[in-house]
Parts: sequence; C-alpha cells; structure tokens
Amino acid sequence: IERTLSIIKPDATKRNLTGKINAKFEDAGLRIVAQKRIWLSPAQAGQFYIVHKDRPFYGELVDFMASGPVVVQVLEGENAIAKNREVMGATNPAQADEGTIRKEFALSVGENSVHGSDAPETAKEEIAFYFSGLELVG
Ligand code: GTP
Ligand code: MG
Repeated sequence: IERTLSIIKPDATKRNLTGKINAKFEDAGLRIVAQKRIWLSPAQAGQFYIVHKDRPFYGELVDFMASGPVVVQVLEGENAIAKNREVMGATNPAQADEGTIRKEFALSVGENSVHGSDAPETAKEEIAFYFSGLELVG
C-alpha cells in the first residue's frame, strides 16, 4: 500500500469542484486518509515548487498557487502515486485522456486543477511538507 500527496488547486476550489474531484479519486480506489483546506502564502507556494525555480513559468505558478485556497490531501492505495497521476491526466488538459480530472476540469496548462507527487521520495517529502504524523490516520 502506498501514499501520495495530492493538491486540489485554486482554480478548482474557486469553482466549487472539491467534491467532484474527490469522487474521481474514490471511484479509482484511492482513499483520502488526510485532508485540509489551506491558503498558501507566496513564500510557502514558492518553497513547495522550489524544484521548478529555474523554469520560465515559476513566478506564474507561485502566484497562481497562492491566489486562493487549496485542499491538500494524502491519498492511499495500491500504486497510489501512479494511479493518482493516471486519474489526474496529462499536465496540459488539451493532451489529457477522456475521463481524467484535468480533461474534465482543468482550464489551462497552468490552472490545471490538481497536483500529484511523481515518485516515492517526492511523495514522502511532500506529505511531510503539509502534514504531521498526528494528522495521518489509517
Ligand atoms: P504537478 O502535479 O502540479 O507537479 O504537475 P505535473 O507533474 O503534471 O507537471 P510539472 O511538475 O511539470 O509542472 C508543475 C506545475 O507547473 C504544473 O502542474 C502546472 O500547474 C505548472 N506548469 C507546467 N508547465 C507550465 C507552463 O508551461 N505554463 C504555466 N503557466 N504553468 C505550467
Ligand atoms: Mg510535477
């Protein structure tokens, strides 16, 4: 059993899509074992996405992630990291498969509704970035 860090991004919380997106996770067999709605400061958003600091879209990404509330969550399941990225769909919604979250809800390559960890090490780091051990229940 594996855990991954998921974020429902500001474009989605603003459009009241948290429940619809969570239903996609649950329908795919992913269990939401921790969840909270927070509003990141630009400094916190910048720290979270620091790996992208040299990419041309970094400033835009940080401003967007701090532009409204996000829902951060831990999803658990068999192959949760890969499963979640499958349910999310491609980064650019124009390239996302039918039935994926980004195909259905994303507005653009930047405002793409969800984040998901991409590997076991990053999942571990990203979960620890947002959640304490006490907040993680079975
Ligand atoms: P995450 O799960 O959010 O990490 O998405 P990803 O792994 O599918 O994509 P990646 O890690 O390459 O990029 C991180 C995030 O940066 C994306 O989800 C987008 O929100 C944003 N992003 C990526 N490419 C672009 C771009 O060309 N323009 C803008 N504005 N944002 C981008
Ligand atoms: Mg990524």
